[in-house]
Amino acid sequence: MFETIRINGLRIAPALFLAPMAGVTNSAFRRLLADFGGYGALFTEMLSASAFLHENPSESPFTRRRDCEGPVFYQFRISSGEDVGALFQKLPMVDSCAVDLNLGCPAPRIQAQASGCALYRDFGQLATVLGRIRAHYSGTLTVKVRLGDDPQHWREPFIQRLRLFEDCGVHAVTVHPRFSTEKLKRRARWEEFPWIAAQTRLPVIGNGDVCCPEDVETHRSCFAPLAGLMLGRIAAVKPWIFRDFAGLPRLEIDHQEVWNRLYRYTLEDMPPERAFGRLKEFTFYFAKNFFFGHEMFKLIQKARNPEEIRDAANRFLEAGPRLNASKGVPFS
Ligand SMILES: Cc1cc2nc3c(=O)[nH]c(=O)nc-3n(C[C@H](O)[C@H](O)[C@H](O)COP(=O)(O)O)c2cc1C
Repeated sequence: MFETIRINGLRIAPALFLAPMAGVTNSAFRRLLADFGGYGALFTEMLSASAFLHENPSESPFTRRRDCEGPVFYQFRISSGEDVGALFQKLPMVDSCAVDLNLGCPAPRIQAQASGCALYRDFGQLATVLGRIRAHYSGTLTVKVRLGDDPQHWREPFIQRLRLFEDCGVHAVTVHPRFSTEKLKRRARWEEFPWIAAQTRLPVIGNGDVCCPEDVETHRSCFAPLAGLMLGRIAAVKPWIFRDFAGLPRLEIDHQEVWNRLYRYTLEDMPPERAFGRLKEFTFYFAKNFFFGHEMFKLIQKARNPEEIRDAANRFLEAGPRLNASKGVPFS
């Protein structure tokens, strides 16, 4: 499963994607993932169209891309008020293999700006935004969605939107099968993947709560109709995880070395005040490798700058902490 996927003629192999994650999938983190490999393509974190217009794309840790990363999908949140023309005029300055439109973010701040879930909800605005994108951009376009708002009546609106995506020349859809009200609570509804994939001719990439290849193998009937698989939080816990899904040889992992490499990469790509929050966010996930990982996270909470985070993390890692043996990861 997931050997290869074609999106608008672009062959991506394996059909394994890093999920866009704000605060995590910046250029430094993607560089770390590239060191391990095993994925087919990476997503940037969600980029605001208006912020993008003010960034220097080759320097910003949000938009910078290194050759070692391979194909990178640039995810944008766009609402109807934004200058879509200017965005796509500037886009060639980054080396994106595709543009992804975020239609799934439930964060109130994002919804208040009529993007993410709010844009998915408003069919008229969604059609307008997709039409405006298509008026300025003929390249590869994908969207990332949840199931919608209403657990009782989501299917019909979902099909309506799939038709719209097909009509607007969207090339693939990533589905994170939770409702907009659920944030990351409850389990992702993998059992909906076959129904979803049967409703559209577009390739469907499935996402949500997948932690190890066994998740896919033991729920084969859920995952088999999908064209691709996207991993999010587990890649922050185990940046080498794509190798397991791709069937590449297992590596001996030195957790302390990996953490310090990410630290180095982060400080190479961004100023300390920006790196600070990113290092904390990454460590929140990375700490889940350890039986007493909450202790690691607690230690770095007291840090006031990146150096103090590094010192606290190394104090924990040098003690040879016991690894968490379970394959499933409690993310909350
Ligand atoms: C810290 C964090 C940031 C996220 N930021 C984004 C984002 O920028 N764009 C997006 O489409 N989804 C975002 N998501 C959702 C993920 O892409 C993914 O759909 C979700 O985490 C479920 O997948 P997982 O269980 O493999 O992590 C974010 C999730 C997390 C945990």
